[in-house]
Amino acid sequence: MSIVTRIVIAFGVVLATFFTVAGLSYVELRSIGRELRTLHHGYLPILRRFTELASLQRQRDQHLDEIERQQDPQILRLLERHYPAQASGKMAMLLREASEIAESNHREAETDSARSVLTSVLAQLDALSARNKKTTGILASFLAAMRSEGTAKAGELRQDLRNEERAQSDDIRAVTNAIEAAIRETVGVAQRRERDGAIFVVAATAVSLLMGLAILVFARRTLAPIRPLTEAARRVAIGDYGARGNVRGAGELGILADEFNKMAKALLDRDARLKQQQRELVEAERLAAVGRISAQIAHEIRNPLNAVGLNTELLDEALTSGDRGAAEKSLRVIQREIDRLSEITESYLRFGRMPSGPRTIVDLRIVLSEVIDLFTPECAKRAIRVERALDDSAPVEGYENALRQVFVNLVRNAVEAMKDGGRLRATIAVQNGGVAIAVSDTGSGIPPEDRDRVFDPFFSTKVTGTGLGLPHARQIVREHGGQIRCAPALWEDGGAGTTFFVDLPRRGAK
Ligand SMILES: Nc1ncnc2c1ncn2[C@@H]1O[C@H](COP(=O)(O)OP(=O)(O)OP(=O)(O)O)[C@@H](O)[C@H]1O
Ligand SMILES: [Mg+2]
Repeated sequence: MSIVTRIVIAFGVVLATFFTVAGLSYVELRSIGRELRTLHHGYLPILRRFTELASLQRQRDQHLDEIERQQDPQILRLLERHYPAQASGKMAMLLREASEIAESNHREAETDSARSVLTSVLAQLDALSARNKKTTGILASFLAAMRSEGTAKAGELRQDLRNEERAQSDDIRAVTNAIEAAIRETVGVAQRRERDGAIFVVAATAVSLLMGLAILVFARRTLAPIRPLTEAARRVAIGDYGARGNVRGAGELGILADEFNKMAKALLDRDARLKQQQRELVEAERLAAVGRISAQIAHEIRNPLNAVGLNTELLDEALTSGDRGAAEKSLRVIQREIDRLSEITESYLRFGRMPSGPRTIVDLRIVLSEVIDLFTPECAKRAIRVERALDDSAPVEGYENALRQVFVNLVRNAVEAMKDGGRLRATIAVQNGGVAIAVSDTGSGIPPEDRDRVFDPFFSTKVTGTGLGLPHARQIVREHGGQIRCAPALWEDGGAGTTFFVDLPRRGAK
């Protein structure tokens, strides 16, 4: 079963328990409420009427006693006109009221016990009403007998009345007792239910709480592996492929952790393979570069060596023939070609050899000024106008000679690109974190397809060029934490050409 299903089921069980408790409590409360309603609207009002009935009946009996004893015919008339008949009327009314109450409660009664209590009360009320009518009839006859002075007859009727009254009083008491018993029963049931309900609610709440706790523990235990997994994923994401999610168990998270660990291991292996391939590639590149350099050197030195060989023979001939002039000429050529050879070797040696020793503070403004001064005579010869916009001071930390070499290479390339004169501009701007140098010319320009290749070793479009000037410059600039790039020059008069940009970190800037 999946984790989600398990958690959903667990919460479902807790919810179901909670709703069951709430529902049962509601049902229980409602039924207690119904019992109390019957009590309040049925039993108690009926009981009140019966209490009144009992007291009225007692009064009527007393009045009858008084009427029987009374000798004064005037008082007798007064008594008989009012009391007994009034009492009977009131009693009939109370009985009617009690019947109505009992009937309406019987209609709405919701429990069997209430219904049966009310049914018997209704029957007894009917009987009582009949008896009350009968009593009223006998009462009228008794009063008539009293008036007609037939004492013997009156005495007899009075005895009948007494018997009726007793029976009626017994009936009233019986009903009162029945209702009181019903009240006691209802209150007892309500109390029992209240107690049972309280016990049920407490027990069910305890069970819900325990289940909630169990689910909490379960959820914690089930989801606990997520943390080490997340941590492992985070570490793998930042390149620590050795990180593993240590999760035991066969659940979904266990499977996930296994898969994750397999993935991390695969990444580790791939990383190792990549590093190995990279090493092999670098090695192959190095060997290829050695091959290229050897071929290049062979090519470069072949011409001077041929020239040296040829001129050595010419020198030999000149010495044999005693032609001093020819001998000196050949010697000069030999000398020049040897110089050329040593220049070639020197430039190869320079390339790939990084400057060493302590770095110093170098003011690029001074270095670039000196380099431009160096080229000024040649520029004048080639009709190249030189412009410079150099900031006050542009200090960087590094190797002065190496940096000078960079500028020499850039300025020489610019001059060489302007066969028919032009403009050469060098600028230095000191910005927030660095020094920006730009060397622009109005020369031949670099075709877009060559723009990326000019920094490749041996890329040269010149007959005598080694193609090492720009790669060497880039090596030095990078060694100083900077970068170099080229772009078409943007001259204000619309002229074309090339600009080389060099950005170097300013001294002290990180
Ligand atoms: N300012 C420039 N204008 C036009 N082309 C340029 C410029 N600078 C460099 N290049 C092109 O880039 C190529 C490579 O330049 P790089 O300085 O590396 O070698 P090189 O100048 O050919 O040889 P060397 O520097 O040994 O004399 C050049 O041959 C040239 O085609
Ligand atoms: Mg060059």
